[in-house]
Amino acid sequence: MLSKLAHLSTQSIRYLEAGTGRPALLLHAFPLGADQWLPQLLRVPPGWRFVAPDLRGFGGTDPGGAIGGITMDTYAADMLELMAHLEIPTAVVAGLSMGGYVAMAIARRAPSKLSGLVLADTRASADTADGRAARDKMLAILERDGPLGVGREMLPKLLGATTRREQPDLVDAIRRLIEANTPDGIAAAIRAMKDRPDSTLLLPTLTCPTTIVCGAEDIITVPAECESLHRTIPGSRYVLIPDAGHLSNVEAPAAFTEALIQAGAACSVLGAGCAEP
Ligand code: MLT
Repeated sequence: MLSKLAHLSTQSIRYLEAGTGRPALLLHAFPLGADQWLPQLLRVPPGWRFVAPDLRGFGGTDPGGAIGGITMDTYAADMLELMAHLEIPTAVVAGLSMGGYVAMAIARRAPSKLSGLVLADTRASADTADGRAARDKMLAILERDGPLGVGREMLPKLLGATTRREQPDLVDAIRRLIEANTPDGIAAAIRAMKDRPDSTLLLPTLTCPTTIVCGAEDIITVPAECESLHRTIPGSRYVLIPDAGHLSNVEAPAAFTEALIQAGAACSVLGAGCAEP
């Protein structure tokens, strides 16, 4: 597994890469980073090339000038430029939570770049009024206590009850990932999520095979919400992962990777409007 820097037009993106073959672009949740995908990268299945970037302002990816005013489309444009830089014409794009919002923005901007879509522990709707107020509260916590405060707020919700009981080391690993980020990068992502568009109408138009994944113990995007995403996308698959919470790829890595590579397989078999790599 390699950690590399891609020098793009506006900034350098750090990404992790493992394996050769069919490309999958793995997009991390808020407020984490590419290392969220280490469980997948360390056991990349044969025939797959996994690429996991730090989104703009996270981990080792610099903000690219002014970090203010970025949107989900900014992250999506960065990812499309990264794919071009890495000579990846099409990829299975897998996004977890905020990564899912970015994946939907990629699907909106450049559907022909997708050979499959995995939306994990995420939602298509925009923030409600309460959700937007919660973003303002999180910005105030960040301002007062920095990334440490954001970690304190989010950690109890990110990992499921089973993981917190049976894999306590993961709590510290996720806390370290959160605290490694800068306040500016975290603030920009909070604002980008607060203002993200509703993607509900996009979903029925997707022709690329899509898999919805959800941790059965997710309390941020609960299974009922993930199921409704599945019902909105024609022909999508739904994989409920037992004993996992919001960070399903970290908490149940083998089950998550299996869902991911099945998404690719479905794409090859159906070929319904999806571009081959
Ligand atoms: C995430 O895990 O990326 C966040 O919970 C998404 C959100 O806050 O909407």
